[in-house]
Amino acid sequence: MRDKKIDKTPARLDFIQSATGLILVIFIMGHLLFEASILISEEMMYRVTIMFEGYYFFGETYPGIVSFFAGAVGVIFVVHAATAMRKIPSTYKKYKIIKNHTNQLKHEDTSLWLIQVITGFMMFFIAPIHIYIMMVEPSDIGPYASSSRIVDELMGPLYFLLLLAVVSHAFVGLYRLALKWGFMEGKNTKVSRARFKLLMKVMIVLYIVVGLASLAKYTYIGLTHDFSDGVKYKSESIIMERH
Ligand code: HEM
Repeated sequence: MRDKKIDKTPARLDFIQSATGLILVIFIMGHLLFEASILISEEMMYRVTIMFEGYYFFGETYPGIVSFFAGAVGVIFVVHAATAMRKIPSTYKKYKIIKNHTNQLKHEDTSLWLIQVITGFMMFFIAPIHIYIMMVEPSDIGPYASSSRIVDELMGPLYFLLLLAVVSHAFVGLYRLALKWGFMEGKNTKVSRARFKLLMKVMIVLYIVVGLASLAKYTYIGLTHDFSDGVKYKSESIIMERH
């Protein structure tokens, strides 16, 4: 009998898709919370910003660190999108079959897959704009600079759409990962699936509420702050020249 070699490429691509997806979920969970520091105060958001620029480590700020991370996140994003794209139906006919299947069976997990395709497609166009700006203008992050970008540079509507897409995509994705990796195979699969699904929905609502609240606060600052002195924030307690 001839030795038949198994093609491991699909399994490898699948693993890369899952691993990059997980990294991005962890990233976005931290990102939206750090960014929500604006809800505490402008000073708090400023401190979080300079923390990422290495101030508490080097005693000076290096926005290049943020550029580097934005570039790294961009690469992971591209790898994730490239490996995930294989699973999008390539013709309308194939799409129709899936859609009919979803409607007929009312199978929620298939509907979740459709949510992933739609939100993934949205992010494909929106996220690169944001990541690129963060990469090339890392020193323009802060309570006033960010608010000005959201209001004066009209990034608000884009962030609104990105927020809805990324939060749904991240937690639906995490649920599907848990399903795939057998986290729901307890004594009663049905019960544990229902629990994970509830947790997924709770996390989506929580993160969207927090994200919308932050966006509202940045918008409020953008509309009410007097920018005649520029967009740089002057801290009450940390006196230094930010690069
Ligand atoms: C290292 C890379 C990134 C950095 C440094 C970064 C930084 C920021 C900052 C500072 C803001 C506040 C608004 C502004 O200054 O323009 C913001 C908002 C936002 N970012 Fe990012 N970001 C990064 C990557 C991403 C990625 C990959 C996504 C999603 C795919 C994302 C989604 C969002 C969303 C949805 C908002 C609006 C949040 C809200 O409504 O509260 N970011 N980001």
